[in-house]
Amino acid sequence: MRICILGASGLVGRAMLSLLETQPWLTADPVLLTSARSAGQEISFRGRALVCREVGPDSFDGLQLALFSAGGGTSLRWAPVARDAGCLVVDNSSAWRMDPDSPLVVPEINGHLVGRGPGIIANPNCSTIQIVMAVAPLDAAFGVRECHVTTLQAVSGAGQAAVQELERQSRQYPDHGPGDVFPRPMAFNALPAIGRQTGDGAYEEESKVLHEMRRILARGEDLHVTCTATRVPVMTGHSAAVRLVCEKPVDPREAAWVLAAFPGLVVTTDPYDYHTAREAAGTNEVYVGRIRRDPGTARGLLLWVVADNLRKGAAWNAVQIAQTAAAAASGAAPGA
Ligand SMILES: NC(=O)c1ccc[n+]([C@@H]2O[C@H](COP(=O)([O-])OP(=O)(O)OC[C@H]3O[C@@H](n4cnc5c(N)ncnc54)[C@H](OP(=O)(O)O)[C@@H]3O)[C@@H](O)[C@H]2O)c1
Repeated sequence: MRICILGASGLVGRAMLSLLETQPWLTADPVLLTSARSAGQEISFRGRALVCREVGPDSFDGLQLALFSAGGGTSLRWAPVARDAGCLVVDNSSAWRMDPDSPLVVPEINGHLVGRGPGIIANPNCSTIQIVMAVAPLDAAFGVRECHVTTLQAVSGAGQAAVQELERQSRQYPDHGPGDVFPRPMAFNALPAIGRQTGDGAYEEESKVLHEMRRILARGEDLHVTCTATRVPVMTGHSAAVRLVCEKPVDPREAAWVLAAFPGLVVTTDPYDYHTAREAAGTNEVYVGRIRRDPGTARGLLLWVVADNLRKGAAWNAVQIAQTAAAAASGAAPGA
């Protein structure tokens, strides 16, 4: 299978490259695509220096798979071109997530939606992925009616420029002056504002969690979701405090067993135990801890959910989809 990465010079693109180095189904070097800014830049892959090229109309000829992580506008422009050239596009931006013809996939939950032919598959938002990984098995076991979330999101979720802005502000604190990426000082601060305002009092990130979670779980308004999304001065790794209300009473120990049996989750059963963003950074798993009863209702459950936003929140989920597509194309079982 011949593949490209559009956005190869970015944080997610580099994470995908690093994960692809060990994928046995990938025998040819990936084509690295960027804007004109990074064209000519060399990036190491399996010990060889690959050169980035500017994306153009012929970039996708002869390829079967295109991994996109270059923003929504770039994706809207180039994903149809790649699909029409015969590629299965796996897109990390929000451009195609609500498109009815583009499945929104978390492989552990709805990997059966990955087809083998040309098309566009959307990778969900980074916070949505880690939250829905914990909610899906509990929904299957106990019937989740309500999901209330507060996220604490790392700056790398906003890209390379955001990481540089936090590094600079931290070095120059408190005299760092205004930034370009975040609306207010990010160093030693917490900002309850991610993405554009949606006009109903929410920010874009909060409505993404609502709509994407319903779509992945094939649920409608019967699943009540609220989210307050915050940005915190963490480099990598999103955390989320989650409160669920189920159809029936939930025993926290039973919930922990259900979660522990689900692929891709690492579960701490002691209600006082947990993982942190720094521990999750650089790993592919989603960590669920602080599992405890809601003191207000026997149907309620409280969780702490942590994952690497660049890995399971983006690059690893995309590589898992690629892995599934490669297995389907070769007629093998996924992961074989
Ligand atoms: N960071 C996360 O945790 C995360 C999680 C989930 C989804 N995502 C999504 O993944 C995408 C990339 O995020 P990132 O964090 O990797 O951002 P980033 O570090 O800012 O990298 C952006 C990449 O996109 C390329 N690019 C930008 N404009 C382009 C254009 N007009 N044509 C071609 N290439 C262009 C850049 O190339 P140049 O070097 O040439 O500028 C760079 O390779 C975004 O859509 C983001 O929403 C990110």
